[in-house]
Amino acid sequence: MAFNTKTQNKQQPDLISNRVSSIAPSGIRRFFDLLASMDDVISLGIGEPDYPTPYHVREAAISSIEKGYTNYTSNSGMPELRQELSVYLEKLYNLDYNPENQILVTVGVSEGMDLAARALLNPGDEVLIPDPCYVSYAPCVVLSGGQPVMIPTCEENRFEISAETVESLITDKTRAIILGYPANPTGAVMPREKLLEVAELACRHDLIVISDEIYSQLVYEGEHTCVATLPGMKDRTVFLGGFSKAYAMTGWRIGYAVANEHIIGAMTKIHQYTIMSAPTMSQVAAIEALKNGEESAAEMVADYDRRRLIMVKGLCDIGLSCFKPQGAFYAFPSVKNTGMTSEEFAQKLLIEEKVAVVPGNAFGRCGEGYVRCCYATSLKELHKALERMEAFINRYKARN
Ligand SMILES: Cc1ncc(COP(=O)(O)O)c(C=O)c1O
Repeated sequence: MAFNTKTQNKQQPDLISNRVSSIAPSGIRRFFDLLASMDDVISLGIGEPDYPTPYHVREAAISSIEKGYTNYTSNSGMPELRQELSVYLEKLYNLDYNPENQILVTVGVSEGMDLAARALLNPGDEVLIPDPCYVSYAPCVVLSGGQPVMIPTCEENRFEISAETVESLITDKTRAIILGYPANPTGAVMPREKLLEVAELACRHDLIVISDEIYSQLVYEGEHTCVATLPGMKDRTVFLGGFSKAYAMTGWRIGYAVANEHIIGAMTKIHQYTIMSAPTMSQVAAIEALKNGEESAAEMVADYDRRRLIMVKGLCDIGLSCFKPQGAFYAFPSVKNTGMTSEEFAQKLLIEEKVAVVPGNAFGRCGEGYVRCCYATSLKELHKALERMEAFINRYKARN
């Protein structure tokens, strides 16, 4: 199944490049423009922690600003941050990356994904991407001249990709696979045995794996396996990590990319011309998060886990069957039994009951029939949202 890069928006003036014209605006943002004009909405929409950044992390950044650390840093990022990242990856995964030339500090995983696609792809190169998936993957590939090829996944297979399906999609143009587990929007985690099969394929077909590890610390059931730790994979993996989710640092715009020196060198070349360096105060905050943030991150994760169980049970109780997410902070209930499409469900729920969820088709064709509910919000709001959703569903049941 190939992503259609030819869907030109007829409204686009000719002055916009074909590549940019060919991608649609994010389905999430479009929906939230509507929400912004309404009062009293409970938002289960944006994938963002409801916590502020831990106090000690904010303090570290404020103190650095007060001391006048407001200049650019090295293009690759502050040496101390790269050193801390190297220690962190060694401790967590027993992976040895050289902070000198194998680690690049980026403006979030978002920039890392863009850099990886631009550094690796030649025009027409195909990139395999799970469907449904985070909204930026396919556009980053298209903007780099590549061709996204979606790997269908389904609830029956726990939204995991299968090596068999991946292999059936590999052609002589396939260059890379993007993995994003724990997954947004499904909360799926790839079991180690299945990931091993995919890794074996990557080695056999000489493919790069770009692994979005942003939710790797948010795992409640099962175990997250870092693909770079699997046999033959360290040198062919681009590991994209970030601080946004685990440390509640979305607004700081800070993350990192880790790979072999050739790939990081190429990504750094683009980064030095387009970004220069990630925000200095955010780099200071990231150092503090890595050094002393483990406890606050663990507390938030424990809290998301409690909310996850309440959310999934609540959705099932009101008649929406829901795959049990194992990681990230999203529930992805099916709305198929309501007879509405994902868009209809989300739009009507927002207008009639003022609860914002994201239609599953914003994350790919395989997301149709589902909606994404972010449970990184207070229990009080979650209960209120569930009550409103119940009223909505009962009203529709009564009508049909
Ligand atoms: C799967 C996934 N990757 C990347 C990002 C963006 O991460 P960052 O804030 O580090 O740019 C998000 C944000 O929602 C996400 O869900």
